[in-house]
Amino acid sequence: MLPGRSLIEPGDFTLEELNYLFSLSQKIEADKTFLRESCRGRLLATLFFEPSTRTRLSFEAAMLRLGGSCLGFAESSSSSAAKGESLSDTIRTVSCYADAIVMRNPKEGAALLASRVTAIPVINAGDGGHHHPTQTLTDLLTIKRLHGRLENFTIGFCGDLKFGRTVHSLAKTLSRYPGISQVFISPPELKVPDYITRSILEKKQACREAEKLEDVIGGLDVLYMTRVQRERFFNEEDYIRLKDFYVLTREKMAAAKDDMIVLHPLPRVNEIAVEVDDDPRAAYFKQARYGMYVRMALLASILGVAPC
Ligand code: NCD
Repeated sequence: MLPGRSLIEPGDFTLEELNYLFSLSQKIEADKTFLRESCRGRLLATLFFEPSTRTRLSFEAAMLRLGGSCLGFAESSSSSAAKGESLSDTIRTVSCYADAIVMRNPKEGAALLASRVTAIPVINAGDGGHHHPTQTLTDLLTIKRLHGRLENFTIGFCGDLKFGRTVHSLAKTLSRYPGISQVFISPPELKVPDYITRSILEKKQACREAEKLEDVIGGLDVLYMTRVQRERFFNEEDYIRLKDFYVLTREKMAAAKDDMIVLHPLPRVNEIAVEVDDDPRAAYFKQARYGMYVRMALLASILGVAPC
């Protein structure tokens, strides 16, 4: 279904293709031998020009579990970018060695540019404050597995909705599913960009904005917490003023539904108190695990070794 395809933003895949990836992920989770050696002899390049723990390591774990191998770099200072090499030249070079590229770059549009100068698949692992489609795959799979459906629920996004690329990708994608109501909870300075709310309203889906988490938490089925994105602020004072605007505590969780789930793409800084980790509704570490399964499904599919 997906051999040879790149993934630059979640809209690149149809809902049918997303569903296919979720059922493949479920099979991989249920049967540890399924697709185990399917990528033997294949090479995945992981090019990270920005810090990462989960995205890079889950891609590498995914490729290794499929029997393939990985090469790459975890910071731009150890690549020829530090000598002034252009992104296009780096991508053309890596394409001589690898079968697929996963890349993260601080510039919006970098992954799209990369995909235009190579014939091998490029997966966007985050381009600035723009998109992060494989986190969206992770988030959707987690919701599907824990709530049993990808329709008819209310999700609240809380925190830095201006710079948070995981929010942008997930919110746009959720507007393609029926009956989803989205609540954007942020201070005015960190509001979700207009192009996101516009794209939701154009599809005649529900969305609204709020400032206080306490005012809306009781109506949510999913609460998606986010970190204030320090690295994308122009000045440190604004960051310091806004960084602890929201802190999810046990006390606030008391007002939430019994089956609400708390997601977070991680890393967490202060926005979820550690005491919440013991709450059965806290799903962010499960989410990290689902991220590996869905990346296995994605790699096996674009490398053409998954069943159709
Ligand atoms: C996110 C990212 O890089 O955008 N992390 C991730 O990939 N899981 C969220 C963040 O950095 O806050």
